[in-house]
Amino acid sequence: MNKTIAVIEGDDAAPEAVRPVVALLDSLQLGLTWVYPEVGEAGEAKSGSTFPDSARAVIDAADTTLFGSTSGKSGAALGYLRWGKETFANLRPCRYLPGCASPLRNPEGIDFVIVRENLEDLYVGAEGPLTDLAALNLFGRTIRKPVHELGDGRYAIKAITREGTERVVSFAFDLAAKRDSKRKLTCATKHNMLRGTDGLFLSVAREIAADYPDIAFESFIVDDFACRMIREPERFDVVVMPNQYGDILSDAAGGLLGSLGLAASGCFGADYAYFEPAHGTAPDIAGRNVINPTATILSATMMLDYLGLETAAARIEGALARVYADGSALTPDQGGAATTTEFCAALARAL
Ligand code: IPM
Ligand code: MG
Repeated sequence: MNKTIAVIEGDDAAPEAVRPVVALLDSLQLGLTWVYPEVGEAGEAKSGSTFPDSARAVIDAADTTLFGSTSGKSGAALGYLRWGKETFANLRPCRYLPGCASPLRNPEGIDFVIVRENLEDLYVGAEGPLTDLAALNLFGRTIRKPVHELGDGRYAIKAITREGTERVVSFAFDLAAKRDSKRKLTCATKHNMLRGTDGLFLSVAREIAADYPDIAFESFIVDDFACRMIREPERFDVVVMPNQYGDILSDAAGGLLGSLGLAASGCFGADYAYFEPAHGTAPDIAGRNVINPTATILSATMMLDYLGLETAAARIEGALARVYADGSALTPDQGGAATTTEFCAALARAL
């Protein structure tokens, strides 16, 4: 089987995690071909654009993309991978690896996945001055004067569509059925305040729940969910939520495991998926060869699953679990003293 993977190494410390992971996967001889679209600074230097058409063509021709993290110049490529490719479901697993530096007393049993709606909500990016809204003479449910008379300020649009919600909730239910573990889907929304938008998200989720009678469905107000996620994370299996809550709570979920360095992520659309760690580019540790590559490794194993290479993915995850259980080659975020290179060497030995 020959599969082509577009690699975008990303900014700051991200390439220090991506490069050894690509080298490790390559050493397994899985029939993977790596191509490197020139985006960000490289694209700008060569063609004057941070996301030239040639880079887009490379992504389109590849089976998938492995993305480091962006702090700026590769942002246009990220925008294309999300909104251009309509990768509407962002999967962010949170699974305890014995040996990881979880701050919880009893982290055993943590194994849930956040499915974050990836394209809508406040991230449609429509913002502007409040005075723009004068013609609408818009009142909110709570305020006593029209929005444009509140004072000098700005608005942002939160857009939730029926179709966008249906597809992400169906995806989440299908995932819960496939995982076949707790067979439960939890929905987290702020429907008590945002009755129109989050209220729609929840009511669509309830409708779809009727099509999955053998998956238990529950719903929490998102602030209550945040507390439960920390107090009793082992209760959850698949959790679906609108974009912004998913963005925030998936980082919090990384914190349950002790570091964002463990937070993997994959974004799935109808006909494309791409994979990236959920953490940022860690500029504070750039150039020091200490970034934890675990999030990139777990994103890459999600990618192998997507490409139909489940056996290789399971093998790598097994080896990773042994590296954590052994504990002698962990990176500083996990309380260890190993460099990224040493961690990857230990993983290669465990393989
Ligand atoms: C993430 C990141 C991105 C997001 C940023 C880099 C645009 O925080 O993947 O969670 O907000 O989705
Ligand atoms: Mg984020």
